[in-house]
Amino acid sequence: MRSGTGTGNAAPVVIVGAGHSGVAVAAGLRAKGWEGCILLIDAENGLPYERPPLSKELLKDGATDESAVLRKERFYADKGIDRLAGVTAASIDRNGRTVLLSDGTRQAYHRLVIATGSRARPLTVPGAGLQGVRSLRTRDDALELKRLLVPGARVAIIGAGYIGLEVAAASAARGCEVTVLEFQDRVMSRVTSAPVSCYFEKLHMRHGVRFVFGAAVTSIDGEQSFQGEQRAQSVTVADGTVFPADVVLAGIGVLPNQELAADAGLDCRDGILVDGDGRTSDPAIYASGDVTRFTSPIDGASQRLECIQNALAQADRVAAHITGQPAAEPEVPWFWTVQHGVRLQTAGVRHREDQVIVRGEPAGGKFSVVYLRGGRLAAVDTIANLADFRTAKRLVAQGALIDPALAADPGIPLADAIAGIPHHAAADLAAARS
Ligand code: APR
Repeated sequence: MRSGTGTGNAAPVVIVGAGHSGVAVAAGLRAKGWEGCILLIDAENGLPYERPPLSKELLKDGATDESAVLRKERFYADKGIDRLAGVTAASIDRNGRTVLLSDGTRQAYHRLVIATGSRARPLTVPGAGLQGVRSLRTRDDALELKRLLVPGARVAIIGAGYIGLEVAAASAARGCEVTVLEFQDRVMSRVTSAPVSCYFEKLHMRHGVRFVFGAAVTSIDGEQSFQGEQRAQSVTVADGTVFPADVVLAGIGVLPNQELAADAGLDCRDGILVDGDGRTSDPAIYASGDVTRFTSPIDGASQRLECIQNALAQADRVAAHITGQPAAEPEVPWFWTVQHGVRLQTAGVRHREDQVIVRGEPAGGKFSVVYLRGGRLAAVDTIANLADFRTAKRLVAQGALIDPALAADPGIPLADAIAGIPHHAAADLAAARS
């Protein structure tokens, strides 16, 4: 058994994973009055850091990564949160309530919180292991990628999701020649509708980014460098077209890091299954953040959300359940990306079959897209439109019935497009109109 933390009177709450959610669980436990030991286990070295800047600010010229820590070193000391850096959890002994760590020690827990997040989906085509083929998930990934994004470098980006497009924007700004190879017929098809995709495609093209849609990558080919390494030189797609590339970035989605839970026999299905309090199928084990799958309190859908809002909200509920304190009110999930300085913010989770209403003129650079499900507001994409974003968060939470014709008119505030509101939410209407 590991000596030190938690070997006194009571075993600690052990949190595996020090991303946004893991750190927020630790902070939330203290904020809610937890007086026992807390141990945060971090696979990476250094202080836990913010992830959004990795594909944005960090890739800019002159940026340092110093401002990107989640909490300063002092915070952990002041709050009595112990950290183990550069260590992973290898397995869980649920009967003995211990975790075997990668350093060979065994750590007892009172409650275990799995906040292991997700990892970049690996590219599996021949040549994926060549030098110059990268993915982007960690700070080290970002710093290595930045080193490769030199002016004139030919950058092939596989996948036109948030990661691929943010890196495309950063690469273009650094003077690289950028080609995005996307399997689907438009950008961000997983998360948004065609009008938003179309707007962002045009934006990128104005900055010199080239798109190839319907592109199924079949191989990456390389050459022997002076140093004797095999370096990527080109990407080939299914129709035989070859795209020269010095740097290849795969941004093809993420996989939940659920193996620790699955190997311990916890229920998992593309994510660790948790209830509204973050509890897994073992009452002593919680999970929080990207790694979880749960039922949406808003529409009952089974979902795994990749966003910081959810990472923080779930962390709050886990900390609340462990301490017996109240949790914050559920919030509508929200997401954001910035590409070439243009901010897309989304409130709610869009489904493919939702009714799509464009609100405003995309050519003007400020517009929203409203998604209705059964007449109710399900989600809103806002482009450079903070007012709509704020209103949308509240109206989605209320399940407001929306008049499509009013919603389509950008001259009418979104809150005035309400055709009806469920009785229980009517009291919030005044707030939504404010
Ligand atoms: N070839 C080309 N495109 C592909 C391939 C492939 N083999 N496989 C997947 N894609 C495309 C998908 O069609 C999709 O458009 O890659 C894109 C991946 O987009 P996302 O699923 O949004 O994933 P990604 O951009 O990697 O972002 C992952 O990181 O920014 C964070 O949490 C955020 O959810 C986001 C996560």
